[in-house]
Amino acid sequence: MVSCGIVCRINMKWIVRLIYGGIVALPMYISCNTPTPQPLSLTDSSANCWTGSGEYQIPVDSVGREIRYGRNLIAHTAQYLGPKGSVAAITNGMNCQNCHLDAGTKPWGNNYGSVASTYPRFRDRSGTIESIEKRINDCLQRSLHGKAIDSTSREMRAMVAYIQWLGAEVPKGKKVKGSGIQQLSYMQRAADPLSGEKIYVTQCARCHGKQGEGQPDANGIEYTYPPLWGIHSYTTGAGLYRLSRLAGYIKNNMPNPVNYHQPLLQDAEAWDVAAYINSQPRPGFDFSSDWPDIKAKPVDHPFGPFADTFTERQHKLGPWVGMGKGK
Ligand code: HEC
Ligand code: HEC
Repeated sequence: MVSCGIVCRINMKWIVRLIYGGIVALPMYISCNTPTPQPLSLTDSSANCWTGSGEYQIPVDSVGREIRYGRNLIAHTAQYLGPKGSVAAITNGMNCQNCHLDAGTKPWGNNYGSVASTYPRFRDRSGTIESIEKRINDCLQRSLHGKAIDSTSREMRAMVAYIQWLGAEVPKGKKVKGSGIQQLSYMQRAADPLSGEKIYVTQCARCHGKQGEGQPDANGIEYTYPPLWGIHSYTTGAGLYRLSRLAGYIKNNMPNPVNYHQPLLQDAEAWDVAAYINSQPRPGFDFSSDWPDIKAKPVDHPFGPFADTFTERQHKLGPWVGMGKGK
């Protein structure tokens, strides 16, 4: 290349483009299960996955003001609703963004890409048709170990406005590729908390702490590194307490800030470290009215009663192969 001159460089550039376009982009496109909404969003490196619009694409008008407030609430929840919150002290101090990365815009970062398009929808966990408001309150109560807020409150309206704005280009009823958390393939063996502990010590403890306690920022308002277990962490009723959710989240996002293009952990390592984290103590949650139809419980739901005869331990840690229903 170096001795090759400008003509050759141009040719090389085109060859590279053609190879990229033909070999890489086409299968990526096919696997992408279109339609992928383009206009509002997308960085080229993640062209096959939905990526949400950024802060600077929010319109500068009164509608935009509400959307921006919603985004701030999601990115910096604790500033408003945490133990030292300016609006109300009703959560454990985590931010929505700790789990819904980049304010719910990151591909496979538990983003909100398919929320506006698929809600209201029936959910097996409650056995009811749920609105976006109900789903947000679920996370407030279960993931942020907090209180539900009124669906007419300024804060709820703003978060809903932001989530609807993010997903406005997605056709009704469609799920976009890369939204939510990736479902990893199940292993033949059970997830192993002991090998997970070794991974935790080498890959995670430097930020999240030896006891999973996280690290608050200098003002003690938000977390620089959020807790992974203990009294300030998510409850046993939270989505991340299901191993498939936690493993899928970790695989494409941790150690922060890896992404799905270049994950660091193997799938098996993600399952094992997830098993370790979810074997540690955390706040309980009264989920007695969840899953009114127990046959609809996901296979990795860790609490009985179940419609089959497998133990709670096997539901929690696997092996799930052959146990039936996945996500
Ligand atoms: C501890 C992690 C965590 C925190 C904090 C959290 N969530 Fe979630 N949230 C999840 C998980 C896990 C799911 C389920 C994802 C899945 O099953 O694919 C979820 C699902 C959702 C969904 C539905 C997504 C979909 O595609 O169906 C919405 C909306 C949502 N959360 C909003 C919020 C809001 C708003 C906050 C802050 C008030 C918040 N969450 C805080 C972990 C969290
Ligand atoms: C370089 C620091 C760093 C390392 C190392 C790291 N994380 Fe994180 N982790 C973060 C940050 C920061 C967030 C919150 C991201 C945000 O708010 O944007 C986070 C969020 C999380 C969350 C969701 C929020 C919560 O507290 O429940 C989980 C789960 C998680 N990390 C697991 C892990 C695991 C497992 C490892 C090791 C494989 C790991 N992290 C390594 C910095 C790190």
